[in-house]
Amino acid sequence: MDDIEGKILSNSSIAPGYHLLRIRLSRSMGTVRPGQFIMMKIPDGGVFLRRPFSIYDYQQGILTVMYKIVGKGTEQLSKASKGTSVLTLGPLGRWFTVDRRNIPVVIAGGIGFAGIYSLIKKLQGKASIFFGCSSKEEIPLLRDAVRFDPLIATLDGSYGFKGNVVQLFKNHLKGLKGKNVEIFTCGPVNMVKSIKGLIVPHKIPCQVLLEERMACGMGLCFGCVMKTTDAEEPYKRVCKEGPVFNLWEISL
Ligand SMILES: Cc1cc2nc3c(=O)[nH]c(=O)nc-3n(C[C@H](O)[C@H](O)[C@H](O)COP(=O)(O)OP(=O)(O)OC[C@H]3O[C@@H](n4cnc5c(N)ncnc54)[C@H](O)[C@@H]3O)c2cc1C
Ligand code: FES
Repeated sequence: MDDIEGKILSNSSIAPGYHLLRIRLSRSMGTVRPGQFIMMKIPDGGVFLRRPFSIYDYQQGILTVMYKIVGKGTEQLSKASKGTSVLTLGPLGRWFTVDRRNIPVVIAGGIGFAGIYSLIKKLQGKASIFFGCSSKEEIPLLRDAVRFDPLIATLDGSYGFKGNVVQLFKNHLKGLKGKNVEIFTCGPVNMVKSIKGLIVPHKIPCQVLLEERMACGMGLCFGCVMKTTDAEEPYKRVCKEGPVFNLWEISL
């Protein structure tokens, strides 16, 4: 797989510390599925390794990425202006699979929303959406999903339910009893662990998108391995066998 060159169309701040980046690609990425990601870098920037980002949206040759500034690479990216060249490698990784017989429930924490929005879009209002963040300042992340009526939790109580998104979801769990529910989630590891703890007794199927740190992104360096519950295959690479996993097959 070769890099695809692209030019930044816009790179705007959508909330403090969060950006939405739109890139016009020089050629097609082919078919993109919800949960897949790209490895991206700015060729003239100071960061050597590419960074992984979920494909937030891809339409008519325009790739959209939503990102949070956390370190050197994302800081550099946030300063890139319209017309800057970027290199993208993708689409990479395994994707979310949807069983239409199940009722989909999406649980997203913070920037984890960026990884799961394309699935929300594909489900076209059929999913119940639970979104958690620190405060109302991060609500703009939900921009394209507001039309699907997400339930919102903020840690400081400045908007919606006061508490974390797993507590909010717990309040709705009773109403889902006896129904064929499937959970799709992306967010901080502690959020995913809490979800696992909560749904163990209910044996609810759950697919999780893991945002492990990556170096090559192509299965070569084994820098992104995750412990599994399978004795025959105790480790899996997030970039190759993931980033979407069956929650019950990974050790968290
Ligand atoms: C499949 C996948 C999809 C992703 N999708 C998105 C996305 O859509 N939007 C987005 O904003 N981010 C996403 N990420 C995370 C993103 O790749 C990292 O935030 C980014 O690589 C950080 O680069 P940096 O140079 O700014 O930070 P660095 O300078 O490399 O690190 C800064 C700090 O962030 C921590 N850090 C870096 N990467 C991660 C990580 N993956 N998880 C937890 N902590 C980390 C480091 O330990 C360090 O403390 C995704 C990651 C993966 C694996
Ligand atoms: S990042 Fe190199 S194997 Fe996954």
